[in-house]
Amino acid sequence: MEAINMIKERRSVRKFKDVKVEREVLQEIVEAARYAPSWGNFQIARYTFVDNLDTIKAISNDGVNDFVYNINTLKNAKGVAVLSFVKGKSGKLDVESDDYVTSKSNVWEVFDAGLACQTFCLAAHAKGIGTCIMGIINDKSISKIVDLPEEETVAALIVYGYQEGEVPATPRKSVDEIMRFAK
Ligand SMILES: Cc1cc2nc3c(=O)[nH]c(=O)nc-3n(C[C@H](O)[C@H](O)[C@H](O)COP(=O)(O)O)c2cc1C
Repeated sequence: MEAINMIKERRSVRKFKDVKVEREVLQEIVEAARYAPSWGNFQIARYTFVDNLDTIKAISNDGVNDFVYNINTLKNAKGVAVLSFVKGKSGKLDVESDDYVTSKSNVWEVFDAGLACQTFCLAAHAKGIGTCIMGIINDKSISKIVDLPEEETVAALIVYGYQEGEVPATPRKSVDEIMRFAK
């Protein structure tokens, strides 16, 4: 798929066919997603896949702050990726250092997770898999449900699956509204 089309044609998909995504396909998506850039190439993003319907139900019950929109999406989801990152590394000069080197301190680790997230979603789209990022989540509950390692924190959920029906494009600001040239 041509890259610019791929970027423009990705959608947040919230309705899925009653078919699980094969684990080999998920491995291929992560194989591509790991090429996302990261602070110091520390590669702190991690992907925990949930394709057990009882565990997805537990995430829906305790992991999305009772946000009905997300509960409805999870009702027909056949898979959820818990995107997490290893804490305390990005933003430092080396992994052993104690000090963050910019005024953004540890914000860079969330930035890295965002880059990993979009790279994952684009790779999934290229493989014919729809995704929807979920930020309205309870990261502590989700950590418990999927037994996340202590050194990681949840950045977002990515619901994934084979898209059911059409998803209309969401509007975008014009280039003029978001772009300027400095003096
Ligand atoms: C950080 C982040 C958090 C989001 N959280 C949610 C969410 O909790 N639930 C949801 O249905 N969509 C969520 N979305 C999807 C956005 O609503 C969606 O990307 C936006 O409306 C643009 O639509 P598009 O992705 O189809 O282009 C989130 C997106 C991002 C980037």
